[in-house]
Amino acid sequence: MYTVMIPAAGSGQRMGAGHNKLFLMLGDKPIFIHTLDVFERDQACAGIILAVKPEERQEIASMLDRYHITKVKEMVDGGSERQHSVAACLEAHNKNGVVLVHDAARPFVRHSVIANLVESATRFGAAIAGVPAKDTMKLASSGIVEKTVERDSLWIVQTPQAFRYDVLKEAAHQAQVEDFLGTDEAMLVERLGYPVHIVESTYDNVKMTTPEDLAFGEVLLGKRQREER
Ligand code: CTP
Ligand code: MG
Repeated sequence: MYTVMIPAAGSGQRMGAGHNKLFLMLGDKPIFIHTLDVFERDQACAGIILAVKPEERQEIASMLDRYHITKVKEMVDGGSERQHSVAACLEAHNKNGVVLVHDAARPFVRHSVIANLVESATRFGAAIAGVPAKDTMKLASSGIVEKTVERDSLWIVQTPQAFRYDVLKEAAHQAQVEDFLGTDEAMLVERLGYPVHIVESTYDNVKMTTPEDLAFGEVLLGKRQREER
């Protein structure tokens, strides 16, 4: 069993919708409801802790009702950066065991990937979802190539990221003390010197970030619904 922490307190600037992108409809449901539903349907998920913006709390609570999401144990106030929103979730959850952190904006994560992450984090302490880079990658500065980076060792990293609670708690605490801001939770753990294992995920676990992601999301959703029929 695991608990999942879901930061949903962003503003969706890059989507350009003029409000939190998570409320945008993807097929028949708002984006974040699809994401929550993945965990609602996973028997191994003991509960969800959601970070929200205070001014959106009520609207979100009523959507949880409307779409029959029952596993949200707590809704905490998010912070100004994603890392602060996750830290608020961690404050609210004080139990040993495995915790997952997953972006509310990634509705297509697969149950098999979640299961592999939980297994790996249980054994090793930290495990993150990722896919091998498909494109040739270059390191450049001021628009000039410095070198071609060896692709075989490059992974594109996603969420979920899974941790033993004590590992993530220590890493988050240390980051806070040192005023360190990372772009994912694994970074906080890496800097303490703990090994972070990669679990191979799927290329369709995309984050809804810009309008073209939403168009791709509609296609993926149709494909998933046909698969499930
Ligand atoms: N998030 C959060 N608290 C913040 C910032 C982001 O909880 N202060 C959440 C978002 O709601 C999202 C996830 O973190 O589910 C991933 O962040 P991102 O895709 O960057 O979403 P936004 O920050 O909302 O979008 P943008 O960066 O384009 O403004
Ligand atoms: Mg952001």
